[in-house]
Amino acid sequence: MRMRKKKNGGLRLERCRELIVRSRGELPRLPVSLEIGCGKGGFICRMARLHPEREFVCCEICSDVAVLAAERVIREGIRNVHFIVDDAKNLGSYFRKGEVEEIYLNFSDPWTKSGQYKRRLTYRSFLFIYKSIMRDGAGVFFKTDDERLFDFSLDEFAFAGFELRGVTRDLHASEFAADNVMTEYETNFSSRGIKINRVEAVLPAAANVSFRPARESDVEAYIIPAFEAARGYLCSRGVDQWQDGYPDRAAVEGDLASGRAYVLETSGRAVAYAALCFGDEPTYAEINGAWKNDLPYAAVHRVAVADGYKGMGLAGQLFSGLEAAALERGVSELRCDTHADNRSMRRHLEKCGFEFCGGIRLANGDPRLAYQKHIG
Ligand SMILES: C[S@@+](CC[C@H](N)C(=O)[O-])C[C@H]1O[C@@H](n2cnc3c(N)ncnc32)[C@H](O)[C@@H]1O
Repeated sequence: MRMRKKKNGGLRLERCRELIVRSRGELPRLPVSLEIGCGKGGFICRMARLHPEREFVCCEICSDVAVLAAERVIREGIRNVHFIVDDAKNLGSYFRKGEVEEIYLNFSDPWTKSGQYKRRLTYRSFLFIYKSIMRDGAGVFFKTDDERLFDFSLDEFAFAGFELRGVTRDLHASEFAADNVMTEYETNFSSRGIKINRVEAVLPAAANVSFRPARESDVEAYIIPAFEAARGYLCSRGVDQWQDGYPDRAAVEGDLASGRAYVLETSGRAVAYAALCFGDEPTYAEINGAWKNDLPYAAVHRVAVADGYKGMGLAGQLFSGLEAAALERGVSELRCDTHADNRSMRRHLEKCGFEFCGGIRLANGDPRLAYQKHIG
């Protein structure tokens, strides 16, 4: 939205200060319904009046636009709308996981020039941020007049692990027309006969996830890509783990052959993998520290979550499944190791109740941190 610089914009925004949220602690009520890129605020004002029981927050990057929407909220005496005047890429510093019930993306800028696609609010890096703050099972409601942006967005939503529902290329002639709340851009486009595209992209509820032994058909389709995604993730964070090609197809084939390969499945896709290895692990024989005990244990190796499924609590569910599988075999101790720089794995292990026991060395001499958990 192009907008001429507002005269006294700063002063006018200051007059709306009770509506402006500057940090996480200032959010009035949680959870919220979030509109990103609210423009002049027509949509959010209508929604807020229709649903006085809900709390609405608008994230708008342009303060000169946000001020128009905030002034409208005040003018109309609406009490359940607040504003975050910031880039959507920073939403993670305002909300924690589960604090956002719905997200509305209405007529987001299409960014059509080459190389600009990463600025689109439906580009995967934004979708991952939305996932990190949305409640599982919640939806992103997306409307646009732009066919190419719509096609791009459907692909991005699918890539990021959202389920697509209520897809229509002509919203106003569809079953969703009756409940549709119009935006300023939408009024303009539809008055010119332009058809509106609409989709609800739902974050799959974690409850739909099941734990099961891996199958040969999972290997190429899901497990190897999950390893690749994990490799890329570790590399991007400067962690020198899995950068030499391990774990590879041979490692998974070995896990499958030994009956120690497990996955989490959701919507027919294997989205997380781990090997649960029973029997003594040679590299755990020596430890610079002390294991919690000498009881029989199972070692957890090769943990990977598929791209687009991070931040959904899947690793926790994977470990719960592994614990159940170990207990079924009469084993009540789990051991695991990870790279010292792999902070997300270390955090995860500690969150799951693993205790740090000391340092071990892999067969090639590389050091790793070792953890153990009693699951009795
Ligand atoms: C084309 S306008 C649509 C306005 C309104 N939703 C409508 O349908 O009438 C897009 C809005 O998104 C805002 N916007 C663009 N990128 C943003 C970002 N990264 N974070 C927050 N808002 C953004 C723009 O400032 C603009 O107000």
